[in-house]
This record gives sequence, C-alpha cells and structure tokens, in this order.
Amino acid sequence: MKNRRLPIVLLLVTIMFASSCKTKPGDVASLYNKKADSIIKLMTLDEKIGQVSLFTSDMSLTGPTMRNDYIDLIRQGKVGAVFNAYTVDFVRNLQKIAVEETRLHIPLIFGYDVIHGHRTIFPINLGQAASWDTAMIEKSERIAAIEATAEGLNWVFAPMVDIARDPRWGRVMEGAGEDTFLGSLISAARVRGFQGSSLSDNNTVLACVKHFAAYGAPQGGRDYHVVDMSERSLYEWYLPPYQAAVDAGVGSVMTSFNEIAGVPATSNRWLLTDLLRDDWKFDGFIVTDYSSLNELIPHGVASDLSQASELAMNAGVDMDMQGSAFLTQLTDLVKSGKVSEETLDNAVRRILVAKYKLGLFDDPYKYCDKKREAEEIMTPEHRSFAREFVAKSCVLLKNNNTLPVPKSARTIAVIGPLADSKMDMLGFWFGAGQFDKAVTLVEGIKNKVGSTVNLLTAKGCNVNDNDLSGINQAVSTAKKADFIILALGENFMMSGEAASRTDISLPGVQMELAEAIIRTGKPVAVVLFNGRPLAIPKLDKMAPAILETWFGGTEAGNGIADVLFGDVNPSGKITMTFPLNVGQIPIFYNSKNTGRPINRENPYEKFKSNYLDSPNTPLYPFGYGLSYTTFSYSDIKLNKQSFGGTEQIIASVEVKNTGDRDGEEIVQLYIRDLIGDVTRPVKELKGFMKVLIRKGETASISFTIYPKDLSYYHQDMSYSYDPGDFELFIGTNSTDNKKTEFSIID
Ligand code: NOJ
Repeated sequence: MKNRRLPIVLLLVTIMFASSCKTKPGDVASLYNKKADSIIKLMTLDEKIGQVSLFTSDMSLTGPTMRNDYIDLIRQGKVGAVFNAYTVDFVRNLQKIAVEETRLHIPLIFGYDVIHGHRTIFPINLGQAASWDTAMIEKSERIAAIEATAEGLNWVFAPMVDIARDPRWGRVMEGAGEDTFLGSLISAARVRGFQGSSLSDNNTVLACVKHFAAYGAPQGGRDYHVVDMSERSLYEWYLPPYQAAVDAGVGSVMTSFNEIAGVPATSNRWLLTDLLRDDWKFDGFIVTDYSSLNELIPHGVASDLSQASELAMNAGVDMDMQGSAFLTQLTDLVKSGKVSEETLDNAVRRILVAKYKLGLFDDPYKYCDKKREAEEIMTPEHRSFAREFVAKSCVLLKNNNTLPVPKSARTIAVIGPLADSKMDMLGFWFGAGQFDKAVTLVEGIKNKVGSTVNLLTAKGCNVNDNDLSGINQAVSTAKKADFIILALGENFMMSGEAASRTDISLPGVQMELAEAIIRTGKPVAVVLFNGRPLAIPKLDKMAPAILETWFGGTEAGNGIADVLFGDVNPSGKITMTFPLNVGQIPIFYNSKNTGRPINRENPYEKFKSNYLDSPNTPLYPFGYGLSYTTFSYSDIKLNKQSFGGTEQIIASVEVKNTGDRDGEEIVQLYIRDLIGDVTRPVKELKGFMKVLIRKGETASISFTIYPKDLSYYHQDMSYSYDPGDFELFIGTNSTDNKKTEFSIID
C-alpha cells in the first residue's frame, strides 16, 4: 500500500462520494456509475481505449512473464485488464505499474481460465454435472475463487454454460451436458460460488459466463464452426443457462467465436444489446473471446480491423480480448463518428464499475496477499473436498456383480495406458493445477490398499497409436492377478478447445488390449477416463464392469479408489447421452416424436424415422448411472388428475433401496406435453432429487411443479403453457421410469 498515490482529483471524487452518500444496497450501482463518470470526465481518448483493451501474459518454466511491449502499454494507461497473470508478486508488480506510473492510476483487473478449479483441480465440468449436486458444484467454485484470489486473480473466464448435444465437440467437457433445466441450475450455482455474497470481499471473483451464445452447437461438432438453428431452439434450449447466470448476477459475459444464423456473436447487436442488455437487463461488461473480434474478417462480415471494431463496439462489446483491435482502431473510429464517444464511454463505465465492485479503487493490491497465497492454496480441506467430488462424479455404467473389488482379491493388476498417467488426471483447462501433484489411479489404489494387496501394473499400450507390442506382457500380468482394473480412455488433450473428433470410440489399440485382458476370464473392471461421451458398444458388451470417471483432477486416483473398493457407493448419472455410434449424433433425450415415430416392436420397419443399420436408442441414455445397490420405484401418485392454471401439481413416488448397502439415488421427473401449438419433446426434465436411502428403507419423494413450469415458445414466440393432456414420468433415468397422466384445464 505504501507508494500508492491517487491523483488529487480522484481522491476528491472518492472523498466527496464517501461523505455525501449513505449507500443503501440499491444505490450502490448508481453510486459506482457516478464515480466512474467522474473518472471518465478526466480521461483522454487514449486512456478510454486503454480501459477496453485486454492482454495476456505468458507462462514460462519459471512462472508467468509479460511481453515488454504490453508492459509499456500498461505504463501508458493503454490496458484495462490482463489475463493469464497470477501469483502475488507478479500481479503486484503489474498492478504497481498501472497504479503508480499511469496518469490516472486506474487499477487493472486480472483474469484467468479457472474452469474446474484453480490449484486444487476438481473433476472436469461434465463430470461434476454427473453428480447432479448443485451445492457441491457451488462449493467447488467457492474454493476455486479462494485459491484464485489468493494468487492475485479477481476475474475468471467461467462458468462455461454452453448446452451441447454433439459429443464430437471437444468442449463438451467444460459444460453441464445436454439438458437446459439442469444446465441452468448449474450455471447459477457456479456464479454464486465464484461471486459469493459480495464482490467486495477479498476472496470472491467476478465471473464471466461464456460463450455467448450457442457455441455448443457447431455444425458437425467441429470447433468454431457455424451455428444455425431456429429462433425457437435458441430460446428454448440454448439461451436459458446464460440467462440463469445473468439472473444470478454474473459480472461479465464473453462472446462466442461462432456465428448464429449468419451473424457472428461478436458483432451481433441483437444478441449483445437487444437481448442481453435490454431484455435480460445485464449490467456488467461484455468481453470478446480471444481475438474473436479480429475473426470478423475471415467470417466475412468485415473487410478490415477498423470495420470489425466498429461492428463489435456498436453491437455492444465492451472489451477486446487480445485482438489489439480496439487499441489500434478506435481512435479513428471515434474521431470519424463511426463509433460515438458515448458508446465508448458506456463501455469504459461498465469496466470501471466492475473495478469499483471489486474494491480495486480502494485497494488495488487487495488480492496480493502473500500470507493468503501461502496458506489458502491446496489446503487439506480443499483436497479432501476434491476427493469427495471425484467419487460423486463417477458413473457406474455397467456392473455384472464385479464391483466393488472383492475383499478376497489378494493380487490386483492395474493395467492400461491411463493407469498411472499423472499428465492425464487433471483434464483440459487445468488452470494453475500441477500434474506432479495429481494422484493417479495406481497411486490412489496403493493409498487405499497399502501392503495388504499385491499390486501389479502394466501399461499394455499407448492411448492413441497402433503399437500392439505391450499387450502380451499385459496379459501375462493379468493372468497372475485375482482382479483386474483396466484404465482406458482418451488422453487429456483429446477433449477441450480445438479437440473435436469424428471417431469417438476408444482411441488407438485400446479395444484390442481390452479384448485380450477380458479374454483371460478374470474379473475385470474398466475404469474410463475421457472428456466426452464415447461410443463403446463392444466394450459394453464384453466388459463385466465399467466405471466412468472422466478426468477427476488433483485427487482423481484417491476418489476413484474410494468407489472401486466400495467406500463410496457410486451415484453419478450421465448428463449427456452416450451414443452407440457416431452416425446417431446428434442424439439427445429430449428429441421430438416426428410424424413417423419408430415402431418399438419393429425398430427397422420401413418408412419410419429410423436407420437401416442402427437402432435409434443410445448406448446409455441421459440420466443413466448404476449403484452398488438397487432401487425400486412405486407407481406415481398425483394429488389430482386435472389442474387449474395456478394449482400445484404434486407427484409422489416411494423409492425402496432393495439391495444390501446404503446408496444415493438421483430421482428424476420428466414431462411430456402431448399436444402443443408447436411440436414438443418426448420428455423434458422438470425436476430431480438426490436422496440417500439406507439399505432396506423406502424414501417418499414428492415433486411440486406448476402449470407455468410447462411453458414453451409458441408459434408467435409467446411463452406460455397449454391447457390439455400431459404425461409425467418419474424414474432412475430418462428411459427407465414410471408413467402417469394429468391434464391442465385452463
Ligand atoms: C479461448 C476460449 O474459447 C475461452 O473459453 C477462453 O476463456 C479464452 N480463450 C481465454 O483463454
């Protein structure tokens, strides 16, 4: 704090507001706006353009570094925020330049991709979603925010809430899966976790919901590709999770790389201004994705960077990530009147207000606390929560009386290319996570069994090449064991950004390894590591047990071992459909019936909506996941059969734990609107409940929904529900459930 000087005028402005305004919560926004305006009045055009420019720092082997030309720009007041810069000393040095060497002493914001943890890395987001546990998800973001702020950060490029129905797209690992209802709840939970109860606290971060909008629907699952869909699908399926983040108070929004119906998101005035600001009342700032402003040129809507900048700023973009476009073009654009100074001022105000909210004007070094950096990162509490979260994200896909590993197993072989691969445990977007601190499956099992078990290991093959030479040795290792754990899947680089695949089966020769090991006739449990649903029908047929573990993060091996050895009974359920084959994609549970629905008795009947060579049904449906115990569902009871428009619809079931151990079940409620103004999905998730049911006990579960929860966009795009008949389903996944009917009478 010493050496910090505020210019006299700013100091006066600050004192004036501090003394004259007794702030009620509702007044804070207007107070910050006024404060920001008083600064804007002092700013030169160059300084304003600086505030709307964001640049990256780099990472070298010794830690973060910053290009000299960017440091010069900071010194000239031409940078508003920096990303990828963290660790207290590094951030403090950059902040010092901004605060002490620039004319107006405006602090920088520091952003980073904190996607599934900062230093303590949690399971990838698709795995977290499989827990259906919004409280745990919120807590994981709270921890991520504590760790990130302890290292100088105050802005995270998360949550990513893109709904995705195409597992070829590598970025499905970052999202919550295919369902809008669940995705919206998770979106809000993440914002709450990051932003806490007040952005002015020193351990909360400004969240940035992304990628606005519909980035998760690229044609062919190819990253950055065109998105083209009906307005109705956009509103109904893709937009709600972003809106949920806005409603939860998210402080910033990131535009997406894609176009929507011909207009790139970054120059889309309808999306950024009419919808986001005017309809949804978003009052934070909008940042582009990395150079997405410059990409308006190859998109073919701007002939040069000047036009691209004009389009983006007039569409509603406030900050340019890494493009240098605003920095180099806005002076001329404002002088020529193509971008009004008022538009630029509005952008600057939103960014300054964020800095006020974060408390950076009060103390620009508030996130630069060496003590916190030493004490609040990767604490035993954070790691133990991470371990618990790994276990909660695991999904048991198949189990023929194989798992948990029997206590009688004295020699266990852990085989496969992912058995002991530290590099692959964290998954893509591992933030500041460290591979060397990650627990592999072999390590987790060793931690669990100690010296009570003879542990053998063999790699067998690599993740993704054609080398069969290790398989024989793996087979002889397997033959010596009482039980085999086979770790297969993708490496961590096969999902994430720019990691789309056309073939989503097990890569390389892993299926050959699996066949050879399974043919030994020994009990085998496959442990899958992957960032997307895989098409693995053959593995499903052959393997006695399959546990989906995604990429679990720092505590991966320990959390998986907890499940494998029965200390935790798996309860996760997949939130993206696993297809039988790539040809079925897009395949998702809330599809339409069509005019020629498949004949279930004769799935290959001609002139029905089906394939000649594949069933329509997936390998594992949305919401699917097994337990070491079993649950049986009673028939559904409704409080009434028909309901007026404001009446509660209460649906109840009894769920009995019919197995021999306690277990958690995620009870799911789906609805079908039988006749609509436009066609309606065959099922839509409208509620769920995760309950612990002790062995032999029965839980009474009831859901309350209202007719308004059944609203949808009609032909005229009005949003309402229909009187008429509905089907209601409650069950263990989207296909295995009990059914009843009800009607709405007005
Ligand atoms: C590009 C990615 O699309 C986005 O999600 C990320 O936040 C930025 N790069 C910054 O790293």
